Amino acid sequence: MKPPVVLDHPLVDCHLTVLRDRETTSAEFRQSVRRLSMLLAHSATGGLATSDVQIQTPIQAMTGKTLASRIGLVPILRAGIGMVEPMLDLIPTSEVWHLGLYRDEETAKPVSYYSKLPESSPVEVAFVLDPMLATGGSAALACETLLNWGVSNIKMLSIISAPEGIDRMTTEFPQIELHTCVIDERLNEDAFIVPGLGDAGDRIFNTIT
Ligand code: PRP
Repeated sequence: MKPPVVLDHPLVDCHLTVLRDRETTSAEFRQSVRRLSMLLAHSATGGLATSDVQIQTPIQAMTGKTLASRIGLVPILRAGIGMVEPMLDLIPTSEVWHLGLYRDEETAKPVSYYSKLPESSPVEVAFVLDPMLATGGSAALACETLLNWGVSNIKMLSIISAPEGIDRMTTEFPQIELHTCVIDERLNEDAFIVPGLGDAGDRIFNTIT
C-alpha cells in the first residue's frame, strides 16, 4: 500500500472525539460516521478522472465536467454500511457491491459470508468502506477479492486505523491507497484498537450486548 493519507483537520478531530466517547448514543455515532465519511471522501476522490460535457446554463453554453470512471462503493458488512449514504450523496451514480466479512472472535481472522460480485465487468475504481482497520485481515481479504474481480484502482476509506493493519496492507498491497482520519496507538491483546472507539458495527446498529 502507498503511504496512508491521514486527514489533518480540526473538524476531523472534533467528530472523532464524539465517535470515541463511550457516552455517545447510536444515533450520534451514526451521524459522526456520516460526517467523517464525507471528509474522507473529499480526500479519497481528489484524483478521480473527469471528462468534458457541454451544457447550457440559463445564460449561455459552457463546458462542464462529469465523472469519467465506473465507480463502485464496497462496504464491508456490517459497519461499512454506515459509510455508504454519505458516499452516495457525493457520487450518486456509484454502484454498491457489499462484502460480508466478520472477524472471528477467537482467531481475529476474517470470515467471508456474503459476496455477489459478478464474474466479469469489474468497476474501474473501488472505494472500500470500513470504519476500522485493525489487524488488516478484513481489508486484505476485501482487496484480494476486488483484485481477483479485476479492479486495479482500489482506495480504502477507514475512519480509524491501527499501525499493525497499515503495516500489513503496505506490505501485501503496494498499489492500494488508504485514506484514514487517524492512526491510533496499537492493538490490545484482543486485537482491538487502542484507544479506539469500541466495535463500530455494534455502535452503529445499537447491538452492544
Ligand atoms: C470490524 C470492523 C472491520 C474489522 C476490522 O468488523 O468493522 O471490518 O472488524 O478488524 P481487522 O482489521 O482485524 O480485520 P467486525 O468483525 O466486528 O464485524 P461487524 O462490522 O459486523 O461488527
